[in-house]
This record gives sequence, structure tokens and C-alpha cells, in this order.
Amino acid sequence: MSLNDYIKQKPILETEHLILRMMTVEDVSDLEEWMPNKELYQYWGKGPGKADKNPKLLFSSPNKATKSFHWGIVHKGDNKVIGEMWVYLIQNNRMAKVAFRLSDKYHQQGYATEALGETVRFCFEKTELQRLWSDVDIRNIPSCRVMEKCYFTKEGKIRQGKMVSTWCDYYLYGILKHDYMIAESFNK
Ligand SMILES: CC(C)(COP(=O)(O)OP(=O)(O)OC[C@H]1O[C@@H](n2cnc3c(N)ncnc32)[C@H](O)[C@@H]1OP(=O)(O)O)[C@@H](O)C(=O)NCCC(=O)NCCS
Repeated sequence: MSLNDYIKQKPILETEHLILRMMTVEDVSDLEEWMPNKELYQYWGKGPGKADKNPKLLFSSPNKATKSFHWGIVHKGDNKVIGEMWVYLIQNNRMAKVAFRLSDKYHQQGYATEALGETVRFCFEKTELQRLWSDVDIRNIPSCRVMEKCYFTKEGKIRQGKMVSTWCDYYLYGILKHDYMIAESFNK
């Protein structure tokens, strides 16, 4: 499969505790429980935006046909959408950025690591992507840990660069398909 094959039909990913799937308007009540929570935005230099405060807006226009992925992270046990995962800014079908966030009620239980690990597996095993990357505010320790637990390399530190709506010191994290294959071979 290639990125083009997923433009119309996005895949569903599954892990032990989670399902990553497209979200629908029926998920709005789940999203309302956590998306407006200011804590989630502490490193973004802005509070929740319009759609974060009113998640119904996310479904007010049809999904655009793009190569990017935007999954809702569903907690299997509670059958609720507890977070989001993005693979976006795809360049030449070769490199993409990842981002994620989770309801604070579900933090520190390994779920972001589980969701990102499966996303990395999907990207490198089921698409032609060769590199994934992300930028993380150096104060965002949970996010740095998640990147490192998923075998991303801390590739550098940007001083006072732009991140979302703020300027801060941030790390660039990256993982190549080659790194993933090596990590997988050790885990077998
Ligand atoms: C970043 C985020 C997704 C992490 O989710 P999570 O499900 O709690 O992450 P995990 O449980 O998989 O891993 C968190 C790790 O950080 C560690 N951690 C959390 N707070 C910590 C702290 N203050 N000091 C040291 N380690 C800390 C946890 O112990 C865990 O590491 P461990 O497994 O080695 O013990 C979540 O905090 C979040 O949604 N934050 C707001 C949005 C955001 O910043 N997104 C990332 C930018 S794209």
C-alpha cells in the first residue's frame, strides 16, 4: 500500500488498549470532556481554540481528501475517544510530522506511547514514508519521553524557535525507517 491508497479510505489501527480511527460527529460528547481543558495547551502559547472549545465545529465541513492522517484515539475499555494522533505535513511521500494529545484523565498510563508506536509501525510498514519527525518544547517532559520510548532520536535543539503560537526552546526528534527496523529486530 502507498499513501495514495489511503486518501479516500483511512485505515483503522489497533493496539492492546486502543483503537485509532477516523472520528465522527457521534464522538463530540467524548471530545467535549477533555478538548477544552487548558492544561493540554500549556506549551502551545495559546489556550483552546474555537473547535477545541466546541468540538462539533470539527465536523461542520466534509473531510478533505488528503494524504494526511488524523485519527481519534479510542480507549477500548471505556469505548471513548480520549485523544488524537496526526501524521501530516507530508513531503514528497517521504517525510511527515507526527503530533498527538490525550485527555489528562488518561495520562501516564502508557497510552500515548502505545498509540505513537503503532502509528510509527503503520507508517513504515504500510506506507512509503522514510522519516517521521516532531518538535517538542524542552519543558514538555512527558512528550519527550513518549518520543524516546518510541525510538525517536533527539536530533537537535532549536533555541527560541516558533512552535504553534509561541517562541521557545524545542527539541527536534526524528526516526528513520532504518531505525525502526533495527529497533524491531531487537524487540523480536
Ligand atoms: C504528551 C502526552 C500525549 C503524553 O501522554 P501519556 O499517555 O501520559 O504518555 P505515556 O504514559 O505514554 O508516557 C509518559 C512518560 O512521561 C513520563 N512523565 C510524565 N510526567 C513526567 C515528569 N513530570 N517528569 C518525568 N517524567 C514524566 C511518564 O513517567 C512516562 O514515562 P515512563 O513510561 O518512562 O515512566 C500528554 O501529556 C499530552 O496530551 N500532553 C498535552 C499535549 C502535548 O503536549 N502533546 C505533545 C506535543 S505534539
